[in-house]
Parts: sequence; structure tokens; C-alpha cells
Amino acid sequence: MSKKPIILGIESSCDETAASIISENEQGIPTVLSNIVSSQVDVHKEFGGVVPELAARSHIEKIDLITKKAIEESGIKLEEIDAIAATAGPGLMVCLSVGLSFGKAMASSLKKPFIAVNHLEGHALSPKLNSKLDYPYLLLLISGGHTQFLNVRGLGKYKRLGTTIDDAVGEAFDKTAKLLGIEFPGGPQIEEYAKKGNPNKYQLPKPIIHKGGCNLSFAGLKTAVLRVTKQIKTEQEKYDLAASFQKTVEEILYKKSKVAFKEFKNINKDKSNTFVVAGGVAANKKIRKVLITLCEEENFKAIFPPISLCGDNAAMIAMVGLEKFKLKQFNNLDYPVKPRWALDEKAVFLKGPGVKL
Ligand code: KG4
Ligand code: ZN
Repeated sequence: MSKKPIILGIESSCDETAASIISENEQGIPTVLSNIVSSQVDVHKEFGGVVPELAARSHIEKIDLITKKAIEESGIKLEEIDAIAATAGPGLMVCLSVGLSFGKAMASSLKKPFIAVNHLEGHALSPKLNSKLDYPYLLLLISGGHTQFLNVRGLGKYKRLGTTIDDAVGEAFDKTAKLLGIEFPGGPQIEEYAKKGNPNKYQLPKPIIHKGGCNLSFAGLKTAVLRVTKQIKTEQEKYDLAASFQKTVEEILYKKSKVAFKEFKNINKDKSNTFVVAGGVAANKKIRKVLITLCEEENFKAIFPPISLCGDNAAMIAMVGLEKFKLKQFNNLDYPVKPRWALDEKAVFLKGPGVKL
């Protein structure tokens, strides 16, 4: 029986310092042996958002301890690691540099291959940590920095079908939370507030809902939320606004996913009907429910990562590392930090005023 690969993953692209060890079981199913995530919420709370220099300093302070803990918890010995995979981008330059340099140093001292990972590819492959997932599949990536539909044809093979032309959906959640006076990071709190409110109280806009294919827009929604918050007086009205916001996002994602299904089917004919939803916002249970309903109506199979692996983590980075390791896709130790790194590098830039849809 051949030895199963053991991969160390390292993640530091934003405000989570994370390390994880993954391997495979006898059936070739990926298994998470450890997954340590240290969040910096307390560091950034008083500033209402991530401060890059503080985040980088915190990564530097913690990365070796977090990695040590991940190795200890996995029960493996250091020399059993077959490759080190670290996030090289996209993300905050100063933060990425910490994990990437640390990963390279580990690879160099252990004399093991080094693998540079695209953070977004980590999200894209995160469902493989709990589900069997074959290519091709339609991916809806919904995080704090990205909102995209992609046709995923294989490892590293992405065709963007649609993207936000302004804010990411996670950003809209966080900004709405901030306007309601909810502490950073507010996305998960909006979901809780929404449970106590009337979703039909405020009519909020759904920009480009009937045009632009499966491209999306959230900036107008944020402006409308700002306008309503100025009139809000009671706590109940806050819950109502959160519920109205949550419902509007659900409707936008439902409608645009339906359009994306059509485009995906046109490209792939009947080869696949798998719909993967990943990224921090995929932790939102109501959004999951609405998209599952859509899949039932359209005969698609919905796949989500476990809630615990929706946000940033290193198990998903190790997952990409595992796939690349099997294909011997290794990188040199001079691999650069890539603060901007699109999954589909051929896709045209679609942001800012004057965008033609
Ligand atoms: O993927 P992620 O952890 O980091 C990025 O790569 O951006 O996503 C973070 C985003 C934040 O905007 C956060 O507010 C949002 O995901 N988020 C949620 C929920 N949990 C996290 N948004 C809505 N509902 C949630 N339950
Ligand atoms: Zn992320």
C-alpha cells in the first residue's frame, strides 16, 4: 500500500492566521487531520475593519505557534510532511508575505516541495473536504472580497461567467452591519438580526437584476440601506432593515444563479449539473436554503462546504496543495506574492463607472 500524501497548508491573506494538515484515507477521500484558525477580530474591532499593518504584525507573532499546534494536533511527525502549500494571493500584500515566506522557509528546511496557492482556488475546492466533487461544476464564490460565478473545468481551469461590478456581497453585509452599529465583522450578525425582523418592511433595490447576464451589483443596495438607517429609531426597525436586506440579497442570488445555470448548461450541455457555493457568505443558512430550493426547481445538485470551512482556513489551502501535489505542480522558492490574482486571468475587468454590460 503506497503512503498517502500529507500536506501542510498555511493561510495569512487577510485577518486569519491558519495552518492545517490534511491527507487522504484508503478510498482517496481527503481527510482533515488538523485545522487551526486564529482570528484577529479583537485586533481590528475598534477600527471597524482590517488594518493591514496590524494584521501582518499579528500574523508574524502567531504563525509559528499556529503551525506547531496544527502539526501536534494532527499526530504526524514533521518529517512525514510531503509538501508545504501556502497562500500567495490574492489578499493584503503585507499579510500574504508572512505566510508565504514562512511556508517557503519550512519547505526549504524540510527539503520538501513548495506549492503556491490561490486563496480563491482554496474556497473553490473547499467542498472537496466533505463531498465527492467531479469537474466540471458551476461555482458561486461569495466572500468579503469577491462575488463571482465560474465554470470550473478542472484544477486551475476557471472561466468566469459573471462577477460583481462593484461591491462584493460580503462587503455589503459588513457595510450594512456597520450602518446598523453592529461590531466588525458584522456579516454573521446581520443573519441573526434578520431572524427577528420583518423582511417586507423596506423595499430595497436589486441593481441590474434584469440585465447584465449573471453579473451582479450591490453598491446601490448599500446606498439604499444608508438612506433607511437615517430614519431608523427603534431596535425593531434595525431588525426589520436587516431582514429586508437579507431577503433582497437572497432574491438577487436566486435570480442571478438561475441565469448562471442557463449559461453553464449552454457550455457544458448535459455533462454536469453540480452547483457549488463557497466563501464566507456561504455560511449564511438562509442563503443556503434559498439556493437549495433553486437547485431543486432546476434539477441541479447543491454542494456547500461545511459551515466551519466557509470562512478563511488553511485546510482549503492544503486541499489545493494535495491536488497539485498529485500532479507534481510545484513552485520555486522565489514565487512572488500576488495581491491581485484572478481565478480566470483572461476575464475582462468589469468594475467602476462606465462599465458596459
Ligand atoms: O471568505 P471569507 O472568510 O474571507 C474572504 O476571503 O473575504 O469571507 C468573509 C465574509 C465577510 O464579509 C463576512 O461578513 C461574511 O463573509 N460572512 C457572512 C456570514 N458569515 C461570514 N455573511 C453573511 N452571513 C453569514 N453568516
Ligand atoms: Zn476567503
